Amino acid sequence: MRGRLAGRRWSSAALVVVAIALAGPGAAQGKGRCGTHPWCDTSLSPARRATLLVDALTPNERIGLLAGDDATGVGGAAGTHTGVSTGVPRLDVPSFFQTDGPVGVRSGSATAFPSSMSLAASFDRRLARRYGGLVGNEAKLKGNDLVFGPTVNLLRTPLWGRAFETYGEDPFLTARLGVEWIRGLQAQGVIANVKHFAANNQEGKELPIRVVEGARYMVDARVDERTLREMYLPQFEAAVKEGRAGSVMCSYNRLNGPHACESRTLLERILRRDWGFKGFVLADYGASKRVSTGLRAGLDYEPYPFFDSDNGENYTPTAVQAALAAGRIDQGLIDAAVRRLMSGLLAFGFFDRPAYVDDDSRVDKAGHAKAARTIAEAGAVLLKNKKSVLPLDAKRLDSLAVIGADADRFVNGGGSSRIEPYTFTSPLKAITARAGGGVDVRFDSGADLERAAKVAEGADAAVVVVADAAGEGVDKPCLKLDCGAPPIAGASLKRDELVKRVAAANPRTIVVLETAGPVLTPWRNSVRGIVEAWYAGQAAGPAIARVLFGDVDPGGRLPATFPRREADLPTAVNEKRYPGVNNVVRYSEGVLVGYRWFDRRKISPAFPFGAGLSYTRFAFRDLRVRRTREGVGAKVSADVVNTGSRTGTAVPQVYVGLPGAADRIQPPRQLKGFQSVTLKPGAERRVSFQLDERAFSYWNTDRNRYLVAPGCYRIYLASSSRDIAGRKTLALGGGRCGASSSGR
Ligand code: BGC
Repeated sequence: MRGRLAGRRWSSAALVVVAIALAGPGAAQGKGRCGTHPWCDTSLSPARRATLLVDALTPNERIGLLAGDDATGVGGAAGTHTGVSTGVPRLDVPSFFQTDGPVGVRSGSATAFPSSMSLAASFDRRLARRYGGLVGNEAKLKGNDLVFGPTVNLLRTPLWGRAFETYGEDPFLTARLGVEWIRGLQAQGVIANVKHFAANNQEGKELPIRVVEGARYMVDARVDERTLREMYLPQFEAAVKEGRAGSVMCSYNRLNGPHACESRTLLERILRRDWGFKGFVLADYGASKRVSTGLRAGLDYEPYPFFDSDNGENYTPTAVQAALAAGRIDQGLIDAAVRRLMSGLLAFGFFDRPAYVDDDSRVDKAGHAKAARTIAEAGAVLLKNKKSVLPLDAKRLDSLAVIGADADRFVNGGGSSRIEPYTFTSPLKAITARAGGGVDVRFDSGADLERAAKVAEGADAAVVVVADAAGEGVDKPCLKLDCGAPPIAGASLKRDELVKRVAAANPRTIVVLETAGPVLTPWRNSVRGIVEAWYAGQAAGPAIARVLFGDVDPGGRLPATFPRREADLPTAVNEKRYPGVNNVVRYSEGVLVGYRWFDRRKISPAFPFGAGLSYTRFAFRDLRVRRTREGVGAKVSADVVNTGSRTGTAVPQVYVGLPGAADRIQPPRQLKGFQSVTLKPGAERRVSFQLDERAFSYWNTDRNRYLVAPGCYRIYLASSSRDIAGRKTLALGGGRCGASSSGR
């Protein structure tokens, strides 16, 4: 196995050394827990070591390693782990501990990081790496060897209950940030588990009779090959090839027929053969269906054999023995799975270091809290700032109304990414503290609309904080704020109505959204300011306060389109697309997901993908495109200039328009480069973006590979998918750019 780490080629032996070195003080070879068995020789390859180990195990011991051994940790209590394998003490095979997840560690309390959507909004690779590193560090200090994350599934519909766990609607953005997150996490000596492979894009829609149509356990995602390869797989491919993720979680859903965890196409052909994946595949909780088809497809380990979502069959010793006795599987299949699991663990130095101790008193809680705040600030998106209502100036305010019960509570997504925060300061508390003693901060929960309007009316400005509710298990019934939201503080809030009433009462109304992903904003024309803070985790309060008062520039841009109407969504066209009919969902919008759909159909969004304002102004100048000397590719560069009077963050974005064909619809623009650039007033920086062959490729189904079509490619420098600052053309593959193709 050869790996790519930090831009250099590393052998597997070197990876082991890195893993050992990174495992912390005292974790050197010889201090591990492998013992003196033949497979403990670290000069051998992980594959060879795994073979020696598996040969030494009895058939029953091998069977025992196929499944997890503890059902209790899934509850998330302190001192437990989401998944546990007790190993084989006879041969010093150590216990193996796994935890959720993408936005923090789920055992007792932990740092509740901002949602993945918030990180995505930062468009910042370095921050993604830092975030992964912090989760990895905390996971390790809580005694875990592997983290069930990141979630790199695409946001196909913003109704998805797990929208907050995703990096939005663009595969390039998702891939770039996912890779960095994985690198950060794995540099801590913790294995990443990229999930949920693949096309797991909905929880299902609850119908009035309380059945769920298109439920994640059963739904069959019917996706054509090109769409899969261009939209739903690239982020997994990057996670495996570039991020070197040590493991993959197969998903609950079916994909073009078989369940993902039973799909040879997915696990053998695509993941292992096409991408060269050398790690192990584990099943989502209850996603394993039959021992025989699972092992044949290449599913190696089931952490949670205590529940099957479909009257299936778990990898429990009893079920595996029965399958063996009935001749449905042979010992060779079991051995191959255990070898892959062990080889994956050996490659990460798991046997060659001491066990990680579960003692989170060693977590730098203050440091992690500060980093969480930085990420939340970088992910906050300023969507509207009419008459520069923001930032607020405490010196010029006598009074400030803070409205909405959501300002006074911890807002988070539900399910396996719900983290119990170490500490939490509410937006109300943080705003009050930041405003200082000179400002009369008046709070109203908004339960009584009249009363809330009165409180807002008398104040110099009004901040309305409103959240939605989203979580694992079921999708949001609609995109309005109150859809699916539980009653709060004993009263059922009417959030959209509340915003309208406050806006009518106070001309200087600012809305702070804490949502999983895109929502409808029917009141957007009647308020002056809108800040999307997402589910910002435990740092929500301080981050929101600092953004509102301008202590920091809101660094975020939208990783997903905010539609004007729900009917404008590509998935709203008919129920075959969403939520499906008889549990079959047709991805017939093809590659036209998110902004690709809005652009191609010329539908105006409320706020486009990539959009977000700053407290300063930026100019993008002097766009240049240079073809790379060898192979297909281009270097795009431009100047970014802060033309305003404050320090701020720009996010220059590069989009490519590929030439289409009669049988190949192309979105007008696709994101292929981005950077987050913070500049002082008057400062200027030349930024460049390397566009590789894949940036210009489409998936050719006949040839079963990515190809560059001959033609004229349009290259855009932009501040959002709809706000283009410069354009150029580039002829590739022997194609030409005529006068009519001037980059429009
Ligand atoms: C989720 C996974 C999670 C697992 C363990 C499942 O329901 O889909 O993302 O890692 O539970 O909590």
